[in-house]
Amino acid sequence: MGEWRRSLEEVGLVVVLSNPVSEFWRRKRVLITGHTGFKGSWLSLWLQSMGSTLRGIALAPPTNPSLFEIARVAEGMEHRIVDIRDFDAVRTEMDEFRPEIVIHMAAQPLVRSSFNLPVETYATNVMGTVHVLEAARYVGSVKAIVNITTDKCYENREWIWGYREDEPMGGHDPYSSSKGCAELVSAAYRKSFFREAGIAIATARAGNVIGGGDWALDRLVPDTLRALEKREPVLIRSPSAIRPWQHVLEPLYGYLLLAERLYRHGQADAEGWNFGPRDEDARPVRWIVECLCENWGGEANWSLQPGDHPHEASFLKLDISKASQRLQWIPRWSLDTSLTRITDWHRAWLSGADMHDFCIQQISQFQSEQ
Ligand SMILES: NC(=O)c1ccc[n+]([C@@H]2O[C@H](COP(=O)([O-])OP(=O)(O)OC[C@H]3O[C@@H](n4cnc5c(N)ncnc54)[C@H](O)[C@@H]3O)[C@@H](O)[C@H]2O)c1
Repeated sequence: MGEWRRSLEEVGLVVVLSNPVSEFWRRKRVLITGHTGFKGSWLSLWLQSMGSTLRGIALAPPTNPSLFEIARVAEGMEHRIVDIRDFDAVRTEMDEFRPEIVIHMAAQPLVRSSFNLPVETYATNVMGTVHVLEAARYVGSVKAIVNITTDKCYENREWIWGYREDEPMGGHDPYSSSKGCAELVSAAYRKSFFREAGIAIATARAGNVIGGGDWALDRLVPDTLRALEKREPVLIRSPSAIRPWQHVLEPLYGYLLLAERLYRHGQADAEGWNFGPRDEDARPVRWIVECLCENWGGEANWSLQPGDHPHEASFLKLDISKASQRLQWIPRWSLDTSLTRITDWHRAWLSGADMHDFCIQQISQFQSEQ
């Protein structure tokens, strides 16, 4: 026990294991879609650290390098390459694994790609969602489903107030609209099939997330870190645009709390939930870049990216009163802290650290900072 505990302490697992959220997840059978992606990799590591029995279905990691490979995510779970546009394949996985909880994150998640790939975006984000829900409906083991959409699912009225969960769905670009559709699909499945079948489904809407191990194109933090690494100026499209930012662990914690609630209490919480940042963490793009440059230890050096840029919806703020009141979910890390954690992560990676252990340490640190 002593040896075991000491080695767990070294990677910060003891704090994780003594947290009440962790107790619930031990030995739960969880199917996660999109586990090879950025958020999916972090969530898979978190669930693994809590002792869940985990199967992931997704395409190959969407970036190279990828957090999935670097943090050896596959080692702690059953890892399957499955295209969610293929219903039979999804159904086979679901029938074979018989999960109790499904966390659906697989998606084509980039606004700009959705202009070039609208058919693929809708096929994955809408019909892929239908396939996952339909397979969950028939397997007979599922009690709770959390479907991850986005803050962009709301009809953006270009107003200054926070959007509440009962605001209408919308979306200007194919990505946002596909996620609005995924919300409607979830609501229809809830009313038509799941209530009767005793399956509780909720949707989770979060905004831009940032964190170590994100290499997606066209996202500010990865683009900035790439430029800093190469000692090149950071090219930014809209320096004054204000966006809400949050560390990836913040919404993931919300998803975990929500799934637990659904599992324990059934339909009472089976609805839409916002997991957004604090008001003060909505900052201009330029502020983020300058803060990252400062953390990195160099002069802030950015310039405007030339060319036309496709429409990007203006700032959309989430009202998080419901999650904070009913789930006691409250953002933990300020934007400053999050950016420091990200530069720490990136430096550790560049210096050849064990990134599996480093991720677990950051998760444990997050859990211990109430
Ligand atoms: N990253 C953000 O800032 C952000 C913000 C709001 C919402 N989201 C949502 O969170 C979820 C995860 O986003 P992410 O940033 O980790 O994206 P990501 O691109 O890193 O990961 C996407 C995952 O989906 C999988 N996938 C894509 N197409 C698939 C298909 N046809 N079949 C099976 N798997 C497929 C990929 O293999 C990968 O595992 C998405 O639903 C996204 O819309 C992300």
